[in-house]
Amino acid sequence: MTKKLKGKVAVVTGASKGIGASIALHLAAEGASVVVNYSSSKEGAERVVAEIVRNGGKGIAVQANVANLVDIKRLFSETKKAFGGLDILVNNAGIYEFAPIEKVTPELFHKMFDINVLGVLLASEQAVQYFGKSGGSIINISSIASTAATPNASVYSATKAAVDAITRTLGLELGGRKIRVNSINPGMVETEGLHTSGIAESDFRNKVESRIPLGRIGQPKDIAPAVVFLASDDASWITGETLYISGGFR
Ligand SMILES: NC(=O)c1ccc[n+]([C@@H]2O[C@H](COP(=O)([O-])OP(=O)(O)OC[C@H]3O[C@@H](n4cnc5c(N)ncnc54)[C@H](OP(=O)(O)O)[C@@H]3O)[C@@H](O)[C@H]2O)c1
Repeated sequence: MTKKLKGKVAVVTGASKGIGASIALHLAAEGASVVVNYSSSKEGAERVVAEIVRNGGKGIAVQANVANLVDIKRLFSETKKAFGGLDILVNNAGIYEFAPIEKVTPELFHKMFDINVLGVLLASEQAVQYFGKSGGSIINISSIASTAATPNASVYSATKAAVDAITRTLGLELGGRKIRVNSINPGMVETEGLHTSGIAESDFRNKVESRIPLGRIGQPKDIAPAVVFLASDDASWITGETLYISGGFR
């Protein structure tokens, strides 16, 4: 059977671990050449690339802080140098630091908005310049937090609500150039980040898990196949959408 993304080139931001790593592996398994972006975890990114290559695919690791325009420009020029163009951008890089309102500071606000929102805008702006005549697909990894009210998540939820607004806006703005823009909004997913933040072992996880109709929190491989779908021609008339993948939890 022909692979769905044969001959396509994809950039996945924040793909050294977690949801992004699984997305990179799934895109490569469907034939895409994948740029595995990371911020500081070189080893993690190289492990993902090694797995792609072991499975018969193509991939490279490129360091870039998504909040830094110079880095982002280099990310896309290196993509072009390695693979000749661009068809798919997955804006996955993101951080979640929860804080009650008393602990919300300008620093926390700017750190989260710079990575989760400015990063999406900068990468999208560059991608639009690199997509060819046949257009492209941008998939933003948002969160159910964009609409679900979660205590102590005012800043994080605001960043993801902004991502949903960007998806709707760019879907409309770029449709004429055959560029589709969609979001995937995951519920709680077990990743390195979820463990580092302490959420994976917390009462909060248990509380959320008990309310998930499908009975468990997600794994990265619950999210990645939908990214493949949205990146592929199977989704050629889908843009500006937000797809919740959360075991039914809202
Ligand atoms: N896990 C969940 O429950 C959940 C639920 C809904 C939505 N999400 C969203 O899904 C995305 C991935 O989450 P995750 O749980 O997989 O996170 P994770 O395990 O912490 O991994 C985060 C990834 O983002 C990269 N990253 C962080 N800051 C970056 C920057 N400034 N520039 C480039 N890359 C950067 C990290 O690279 P380094 O390792 O090099 O720093 C890493 O590869 C995020 O947007 C998150 O908001 C997660």
